[in-house]
Amino acid sequence: MTSVEPQRGITLRFLAEPTDVNFGGKVHGGAVMKWIDQAGYTCAAGWNGTYCVTVYLGGLHFLGPIRVGELVELRALVIRTGRTSLDIAIDVYAGDPKSPERRRTGHCVVVFVAIGPDGRPTGVRPWRPESELDLALEGYAVRLAGLRKQMDAEMEERLKASG
Ligand SMILES: CC(C)(COP(=O)(O)OP(=O)(O)OC[C@H]1O[C@@H](n2cnc3c(N)ncnc32)[C@H](O)[C@@H]1OP(=O)(O)O)[C@@H](O)C(=O)NCCC(=O)NCCS
Repeated sequence: MTSVEPQRGITLRFLAEPTDVNFGGKVHGGAVMKWIDQAGYTCAAGWNGTYCVTVYLGGLHFLGPIRVGELVELRALVIRTGRTSLDIAIDVYAGDPKSPERRRTGHCVVVFVAIGPDGRPTGVRPWRPESELDLALEGYAVRLAGLRKQMDAEMEERLKASG
């Protein structure tokens, strides 16, 4: 068997079905979030070769609606690795399956933690940025993490203060 380098990015595709519809007749945000998690997991587990769990979803922005019957494409990419965690950027695209054209309908960053056989966080295979775009994406993940920590700390303070 030939050895194959783990892939930094993967793409998953789903067909938006009538069961995915919301009360406004478009695809439910929750359905898109499930696909985001599935694409992120596939990317993280494939990169690290271990089971991974979702710990954080940040910067989720739905840019436009997706219609039932459209092909939904989730492009997932490793953009930062830590000691036991890794950040996966997910871009969501949609379009008519009869056409090659796709429009970007959403994006976010999902943080996964690699889990070892003992059920505890385990080491992550390092990824190093090479291009300017890589550096920008890694910087975006680092800034999102900084914001998250700041907001978590503020909320902790408020909860403590309120007893
Ligand atoms: C994943 C889990 C085992 C980590 O446990 P923990 O006690 O927080 O472990 P650690 O403190 O050692 O942190 C592990 C890593 O997670 C990262 N992490 C923890 N909480 C985080 C958060 N809210 N956002 C981003 N990263 C986070 C830490 O920064 C650390 O990363 P690093 O090693 O790269 O620096 C635990 O948080 C857990 O079980 N979470 C639930 C996961 C789950 O069930 N997901 C599905 C939800 S439906």
